[in-house]
Amino acid sequence: MLWLKSFHIIFVTSWFAGLFYLPRIFVNHAMVLETQSGDSVASTQLKLMERKLYRFMLPLAILALGSGIWLWRGYGFTGGWIHAKLTLVALLIAYHFYCGKLVKDFHLNQNTHGHIWYRWFNELPVLVLTAVVILVVVKPF
Ligand code: HEM
Repeated sequence: MLWLKSFHIIFVTSWFAGLFYLPRIFVNHAMVLETQSGDSVASTQLKLMERKLYRFMLPLAILALGSGIWLWRGYGFTGGWIHAKLTLVALLIAYHFYCGKLVKDFHLNQNTHGHIWYRWFNELPVLVLTAVVILVVVKPF
């Protein structure tokens, strides 16, 4: 089980690298669009980065979730903490796919949010990660 848990933590960390970095690119992209008119070289470059990073995040999400479910079902973990964790993980999955919608919006020059909105949007994974790690390590209930 320790090998599986080790890879679970590695996959989760790698997925979070994308969940943290992609919204940060959105912040910069929104700032570029607010200061430069039209489809600038910088905006084209940021669109490419967004698409490549998002494509990279999906297999990592599948490995993180798959290894978690294997741990949960394979080793009979029970308790309120795992249900609270799964609720937060469902929020993370929704956040992941909403990022995909935002990548498409930027690609089609249909972004509607400003850089301040993206700064707040960028904080959500931090809050979820904090709560999930406390739940799974401390198991408070
Ligand atoms: C379907 C989704 C997931 C399931 C079913 C799941 C389930 C589990 C289980 C059963 C363990 C072992 C707990 C133990 O050994 O005490 C574990 C460990 C862990 N999980 Fe997940 N997990 C999932 C997703 C995630 C996500 C998204 C994160 C990060 C936000 C995460 C972070 C961790 C951490 C840090 C550990 C190691 C805890 C320790 O060593 O005590 N997991 N997970």
